[in-house]
Amino acid sequence: MDKIVKPIDRLRGEIDLPGDKSISHRVALFGGISLGATKGKNFLKADDCLRTLSAFKEMGVDAAFDGKNVTIEGRGLKGLKKPGKELYLGNSGTTMRILPGILAGQDFEATLTGDDSLTKRPMGRIIEPLRKMGVDIKSKGNDGFPPLVIRGGRVTALEYETKVASAQVKSCILLAGLYADGKTMVTEPFLSRDHTERMLDLFGAKIFRKGLSVSLGGSPSLKGQEFFVPGDISSAAFFIGGAAILEGSDVLVRDAGLNPTRIGFINVLRRMGADITVTVKNETVEPYGDIRVRFAPLKAVVIEKGEIPLLIDEIPILAVIASRARGKTVIKGAGELRVKETDRIFSMTENLRLMGSKISSEKENLIITGGRGRFEKAALKSFGDHRTAMSMAIACLFAKAACKIEDTDCITTSFPAFFEVLDYLG
Ligand code: S3P
Repeated sequence: MDKIVKPIDRLRGEIDLPGDKSISHRVALFGGISLGATKGKNFLKADDCLRTLSAFKEMGVDAAFDGKNVTIEGRGLKGLKKPGKELYLGNSGTTMRILPGILAGQDFEATLTGDDSLTKRPMGRIIEPLRKMGVDIKSKGNDGFPPLVIRGGRVTALEYETKVASAQVKSCILLAGLYADGKTMVTEPFLSRDHTERMLDLFGAKIFRKGLSVSLGGSPSLKGQEFFVPGDISSAAFFIGGAAILEGSDVLVRDAGLNPTRIGFINVLRRMGADITVTVKNETVEPYGDIRVRFAPLKAVVIEKGEIPLLIDEIPILAVIASRARGKTVIKGAGELRVKETDRIFSMTENLRLMGSKISSEKENLIITGGRGRFEKAALKSFGDHRTAMSMAIACLFAKAACKIEDTDCITTSFPAFFEVLDYLG
């Protein structure tokens, strides 16, 4: 479906957001292999997380919703049953990259596949370490892309240095490590989001962290938990970004996730001069609190490579914001954007240029020279990517006239209610 988005003056209001996508996936993944029930409150009912639940359902794990809460009946570390068919994961890269860690320790063969975009995403980054752990995993076409075929069995502990900072890769190896004898350790070049470490610890695994390394021992007894999933900070980013560029805006996001490995976007916006107040309400396993943002004039900023994993999913909306910040913003070392749901350097550059933005890419860097005034009217494309679609919808609010965005159905991947929340704030 295409969507026409009209310009508005400002965003104002208070909102609660659906649960964090990364954390909801992990509630499903860790709940499924724990003993007893896991209750995920404010679980994200969007396509990606529902794919994880349905893959588990196919392997014998029941999950039932009661409003925004899900209860998962875990079957224990090795209790999954052989799926009767290929596991179709839609667009969900997180499921495709993390689930193989769990399948590594099961006593059966399973095939994971997905949609057009997912079957073009590189899986060599998990195939290589899993093979080093003795896991029988291959890409069906022998090209490093899904479908993936995994025959579970014996797993050997591994100490591994990842080439890219990726929470998905780190999580996959750590989960496979649950099935090994001895210590499995992952060291990253830069710190990526650490939900797996925090949550596995809560479920009963013994996690050790030192600098950029994290390790765990095999065969823990994982027990089901009750867990509140904070509002998704990556979804909040669209409204925070909109309020930051639309004069007169004042938006309060309640109970948003404030995990320090996810708030790179807030830190960068503050450096740009944004008026943001954060009130921490809970500091347990996954901290959360309220974020208030009011319009303030923004200036350009340099984002270093080491910061990228802490704001990887927010770069599309940052590109929109930087287009309206005074001076030249440089986002360094953002090459991972090329292997997301789409090549986001390409999709954002194409779209923002059509709206008159001075944006270019040079190797792994994105360079944006901010302008003044409203964006030009343009016909935009999502390229089938939810975050590109939502970022461009925010840009349209600050355009000279209504703009069309082609194919916005992909937004259901992470945030089905996006346009309702936008209408409310507008
Ligand atoms: C995710 C990790 C990130 C992020 C993705 C979700 C996760 O990917 O882009 O949306 O839940 O672990 P990488 O770890 O591959 O960078």
